[in-house]
Amino acid sequence: MRIECVSGDIRSVTADMIVVNLFEGAGRPDGATAAVDSAIGGTIAGAIRDGDFGGKVGETLFLRPARGLSSPRILVVGLGKKEKFTADAARQAALPAMKTAKKLKLGTVASVVHGAGAEGVAPRVAARFASLGAALSSFEYDRYKGEKGHRISRWLFVERDAKALPEVRAGVTYGARLGEAINWGRALVSAPPAELRPDDLARAARKVGAGLGSGASDRVRVRVLGVPELTALQAGGILAVGKGSQAPPRLIAAEYRGAGKGEPWIALVGKGVTFDTGGISLKKWEGMEKMKYDMAGGAGMLATLRACAALGIRRNIVAVVPAAENMPSGAAYRPGDVLRMMSGKTVEILSTDAEGRLLLADAMEYAVRNYKPKAMIDAATLTGACIVALGSVNVGMMGNDESLLARMKEASASSGEKAWELPLHEEYLEQIKSEIGDLKNIGGAEAGTITAGYFLKEFAGETPWIHLDIAGTAWFEKEKRGYAPGPSGVPVRLLVEYLDEGGKSKAT
Ligand code: BES
Ligand code: ZN
Ligand code: ZN
Repeated sequence: MRIECVSGDIRSVTADMIVVNLFEGAGRPDGATAAVDSAIGGTIAGAIRDGDFGGKVGETLFLRPARGLSSPRILVVGLGKKEKFTADAARQAALPAMKTAKKLKLGTVASVVHGAGAEGVAPRVAARFASLGAALSSFEYDRYKGEKGHRISRWLFVERDAKALPEVRAGVTYGARLGEAINWGRALVSAPPAELRPDDLARAARKVGAGLGSGASDRVRVRVLGVPELTALQAGGILAVGKGSQAPPRLIAAEYRGAGKGEPWIALVGKGVTFDTGGISLKKWEGMEKMKYDMAGGAGMLATLRACAALGIRRNIVAVVPAAENMPSGAAYRPGDVLRMMSGKTVEILSTDAEGRLLLADAMEYAVRNYKPKAMIDAATLTGACIVALGSVNVGMMGNDESLLARMKEASASSGEKAWELPLHEEYLEQIKSEIGDLKNIGGAEAGTITAGYFLKEFAGETPWIHLDIAGTAWFEKEKRGYAPGPSGVPVRLLVEYLDEGGKSKAT
């Protein structure tokens, strides 16, 4: 789907459907919606007056006016109460419009930029979110379906204010590029586990910069380490987790040089378990199919790198993704084993199902050793306990550096991807001390998300570091908050916002 920005009046745009909006409780149409309504003789105002349409989030009013417009269909989408409007609501409004457009198999949709200028949301920002919403809601994983989903060919954003046009155009471009990169990652997460084993993930990673135009693609370089290299590095964690599988583990390091040679690196480390059976500590069968999304952290970090390259963000970024398939077999690692990690620390294994932290520990050591990053962020579907603690609303966030945490909280607020900090107080270390080695890989029933985070902290050393537990937010079972069911793309928006420092890149 092409996403474009055009100048003009939505009443005279030729499209298969136009999309306007209404704030909840507004009583009557406003702005472009009012202009459209008077052109068609007041049907929208009538629907509001009669209580047919109230403007609630997710609510829609579909009309086929006989005359008055260049397009045959109108969809009015609800934006919720004006006082509660945020830029993210402009993203969420895209899903009902996309669902209607797909159901009717339309070719071109023209939309206003929802909420531009409302509640302090600048037109550029509203445009960015609205176009991101269009891009994200166009995602459909239909590779294995006989009957493919309908694809909308063009999604236009119409801006009638010539003064606002450059800003709106920049925002639309930004959102479209960001959305494309996120969808690239979502397709990886959706892939069946037999189709995406560690080497397949590495192959996909080699193409992380593909199709972005030579300026961007040339700044991306990908290196993949196999078992011989990992053995030489004594990456005991990655090797142990990967041992039970016929498909050997990989360590992917994708670099994007958006800044000068002398500028420091930022490391993004993402868990890449292509399928998590639990290993010898086998998971129960119910829901195990979902463990194909145990590489969502890795896919998210690669998608973040792709987005940064597409947006021309001026940073040097390395995405480090340890990829492994956690399988039970005669060759698998066992509870009771003691691993020597790349950093030299030893870890007693109590559950082979707590595998993510073992992969991440080695990948973090690799990142610190080779890139000396000024900041390191990891993302992982790490603990079921995070779903218990924060549900599917917030990412679980932990870290060792107050100022980095403060910046991530700001990015969380402005990106719309919620993250909530959990404490890494020293008292939790007791739970993961081992009798036989330095650490053990599980910390008991209490505070499971925090003890996993604390384990990682032991491998971050002095590097300012943040851990994001995305177990509850990387995949949605049901449609929610403007996301269709399936992979959400979390935490790409959060990280791009952090890396772009509120939108300083060329595309804005
Ligand atoms: N990949 C899982 C965590 C997970 C669970 C992600 C549910 C998404 C949904 C992880 O490797 C795991 O199995 N963690 C264990 C840790 C336990 C053994 C300490 C868990 O959460 O049960
Ligand atoms: Zn596991
Ligand atoms: Zn796992």
